[in-house]
Amino acid sequence: MNIGIIGAGNIGGNLTRRFRALGHNVFVANSRGPETLSDLAEETGATPVTVDEAARSGDVVVVTIPMKNIPDLPRDLFAGVSDDVVVVDTGNYYPQQRDGRIAGIEDGVIESRWVSQQLGRPVVKAFNNIYAEHLLKLGKPAGSPGRIALPVAGDDERAKSIVLKLVDELGFDGVDAGGLDESWRQQPATPVYAADFDAAGVRRALASASRERKPEWRAKSA
Ligand SMILES: NC(=O)c1ccc[n+]([C@@H]2O[C@H](COP(=O)([O-])OP(=O)(O)OC[C@H]3O[C@@H](n4cnc5c(N)ncnc54)[C@H](OP(=O)(O)O)[C@@H]3O)[C@@H](O)[C@H]2O)c1
Repeated sequence: MNIGIIGAGNIGGNLTRRFRALGHNVFVANSRGPETLSDLAEETGATPVTVDEAARSGDVVVVTIPMKNIPDLPRDLFAGVSDDVVVVDTGNYYPQQRDGRIAGIEDGVIESRWVSQQLGRPVVKAFNNIYAEHLLKLGKPAGSPGRIALPVAGDDERAKSIVLKLVDELGFDGVDAGGLDESWRQQPATPVYAADFDAAGVRRALASASRERKPEWRAKSA
């Protein structure tokens, strides 16, 4: 598969490593330009590209940058990109530690719905609830006892099935977590967040999540 990755940090870098190890073609971008990605390219064989090129190079395009930087992406990032291209959002809103106030999310828009609105494209939410290092190191073959499971939420069943298959290839059980309107169940502070549960545990955790956004996950008042 051709996979575009926008963001080459903890998650983007490790997805690049794992997808390359699986034999996928990876086109990876950051904010500073492809010339700053030569180490990652040399290590993995991924192709460093611009953000625009990454959006145009993948059958799947993973957007994995801090939430506060999402509005900085080019407005026409996906203009002319086929609707068949699957866009994955790994993002989490960290208002107090990193992102500051994002009004839409504070007003109640689900995090990935907000990302989708900013990008002007449907997204599939995945990889947001696992530590980058665990994503790199804790994958196991299908059927292994205690295999970690990852929730995948999205409105397009075809797009979601493609992501669920990639999750499995990476060494994790994919759990269909419903449509994007259900994706608050895997946001920060929910039971499934950073918990490394198996599939049964992920299903239980999603079912027991509470919609309430706790004060420590809200922006401090202006
Ligand atoms: N870290 C984790 O364990 C983890 C786990 C699950 C989900 N997440 C979520 O996944 C997202 C990414 O997290 P991360 O930890 O991988 O972030 P990170 O290590 O801080 O890396 C951020 C990457 O995004 C790039 N970037 C920032 N603004 C950009 C822009 N406008 N255009 C293109 N690239 C841009 C940066 O490029 P430059 O360096 O060139 O600026 C950098 O490569 C966040 O929402 C985070 O909450 C993180």
